[in-house]
This record gives sequence, structure tokens and C-alpha cells, in this order.
Amino acid sequence: DKAGYKHFMAKEIAQQPSVLGDALAHYLPEDGLNLPADLDFTGVERLTLVACGTAHYACAVAKYWFEALAGLPCEIDVASEFRYRAPPLSERGWAVFVSQSGETADTLAALRHVKGQVARTLAVVNVPTSSIAREADLALPILAGVEVGVASTKAFTCQLLVLAALALKAGRDRGRLDDAAYAAHLETLQALPGLVNQALALAPEIEALAAEVARAQDVLFLGRGPLYPLALEGALKLKEISYIHAEGYASGELKHGPIALIDRDVPVVVLAPHDRLFDKTVSNMQEVMARQGKVLLVSDGPGLRAAGAGTWASLRLPEVAEPFAPIVHAIPVQLLAYYTAIAKGTDVDQPRNLAKSVTVE
Ligand code: M6R
Repeated sequence: DKAGYKHFMAKEIAQQPSVLGDALAHYLPEDGLNLPADLDFTGVERLTLVACGTAHYACAVAKYWFEALAGLPCEIDVASEFRYRAPPLSERGWAVFVSQSGETADTLAALRHVKGQVARTLAVVNVPTSSIAREADLALPILAGVEVGVASTKAFTCQLLVLAALALKAGRDRGRLDDAAYAAHLETLQALPGLVNQALALAPEIEALAAEVARAQDVLFLGRGPLYPLALEGALKLKEISYIHAEGYASGELKHGPIALIDRDVPVVVLAPHDRLFDKTVSNMQEVMARQGKVLLVSDGPGLRAAGAGTWASLRLPEVAEPFAPIVHAIPVQLLAYYTAIAKGTDVDQPRNLAKSVTVE
């Protein structure tokens, strides 16, 4: 049931404040973190995160968190590559498999591959009865509710929330987060439903920009730090449902090749909260503008003020304390893909050639 929305994807995007609220109520109750008592990261030597598609990008964001908050060596890979490259595994390592459906063949095969070679396997899944949930030592549900649209939206932000909770737990267990930092991070996560609601209010602005983006042949997405995987996710979402060619890059990589693509017909979406990397991203953005590229800057109030003039368009998100801005940046990225697909008249919920759950390798 689409609950009055035109598409399941629109409904699922709009549900994010409420499902994030559900996941928060479960994993971050009033008194801190609610994770199984024996989930102790103290002696964990390294973490290996494996997934496909959007779930892989959630892992790519989480890598920044595990490293920054917990000092935990963290490796990520797409499931279809992981198993075939003889990844060194440690008996004191843990492996985490992230999957909305819990049935993705490559991810399931990767889970079976590591069994017996790591100390523990965790599944971060939306379907608690799925194969991946059943076969992992411990399954953590993301509580996003049924996701019907082929393009994953609410599952992505809920995956990020559960991975953020794990990273905080790891930071505490490993003595890397003092009480003040821990409390501040919990507060940021608690504020997410409200922040995501504010981001959703950008829908009419994004719809207007999408009419223009729909005319493009190519679109680039740029981000730095934990926003880099969001640039990849933005490009995937746009390709998947609007069939426009899109690529995501780390902002600093632009000058190593992709800048050759820039001309006045290429929209460049820059995801840049006003964080410690902001100035560097602004100079990358200026390189684009100097070549007539059409920059859509997604930032917060301080970022937009500091960036100055010359962008094609901008979107103002609420301020989000580092390092959790990616969760809020997911919203404009999803809405831009959605409205661009609408402008192009493609089948948003059932894009061509794709299935909701990919059960072949
Ligand atoms: O069910 P899973 O999370 O394991 O699915 C993984 C990918 O197939 C999935 O995220 C895919 O990339 C989405 N259609 C992206 O929107």
C-alpha cells in the first residue's frame, strides 16, 4: 500500500524520520546504547564489512566511523570481489554483512566463506528471517519496515544508524571515546529524525532542480571523507532509476581525470557540510566553476555562506555534528534521483533490468 504516495519510493523516503525513530528507540534508548552485552569490541583485531550496492556504500561510510571513533582497522569490499581475492582473515577479527533483503547471493556466499576463519559474524539486515540473518552468529535488525521500491532508501539510512551505534560501542569498549564525546555523539544521533524531517522539506526545491538535471547526459557527484561514499550512492541512485549516466568521486580525485568531462552541460552535485574538509572541497568546486560546470552545492548554512557565489544552485541542510552528516545528506541525494526519474517518466519503483533482491551471483 502506497499510503497515498505516487510511488513506494516516495513513501519510503518520507518514512525515514519515523523508521529512524524506531531504530533509535531500540538501539539508543534513554540510557545509552542497547546492544547485546557480549558484543565487546575490546580485543577485536580488525573488522571486515562486506555488502553489495547501496548496502556497500553504508559500509564505506561506517569505515570512516570505526576508524575515527574506535581506532579499529576496518576493511570493506563488495561481496562479489571479496571471496575471490584471498582476503587475509584473522581469528581475532569480526566480519559484518550488511543486506536489506538478507538474501543477496554474493553477500550470503561471502558470509559462508568467512565462517570458521573469523571470531564472529554479524548480520545487519532488514529481514530478520532471511538467510543472512539466520546464518550469521548475530543478526541486528535495522527496523526499517518493508522496503518495496527497488531503489534502497530507508534501508540505507537505517543501516547507517545501526552501524553508527556499533561504531560508538566499539569506541567505548576500546577506550577511544570519553564521556563527553560519547554523550555528544548520542545526542547527534537522537536528533536525526528532526534533522531528516528538515531535509525532506527541501523536496519542492529539489523537484524544480530535477527538471534541469533530467536534461543532462552525465552527472557527477563529489564528496570528501564520509561524504565520499554518499557521492557514490547519489550516482548509483540516479543511474538506477533515471537512467542518466552518473559517477561519484572523492572531491580530491577530480583533478586526476574526471575534470576533463566538465562543461556547461554537466551538473556537478557537491556534498559538503561545513566540516574541517570544507575549504578543500570549495577549491575543488571552484575548479569546476572555472570550467563552466554547473555546481549544485549541498551544504549547511555556514557552508553556503562560506562558499560564496558562482554556483548554479544550492540546497541548505540543517547543521549536523561530524561525523554523522552522511545520514542527513542521503535525503537530498534520494530526492534528486526520485524527481529526476519523475521528470524523465521512468518506472521509479521497478527500474528496467533490476530486481529488488539479487539472488544470482
Ligand atoms: O538486499 P541487499 O541490501 O543485499 O541488496 C544489495 C543491492 O542489490 C542493493 O542495495 C541495490 O544496489 C539497490 N537497488 C540500490 O538502490
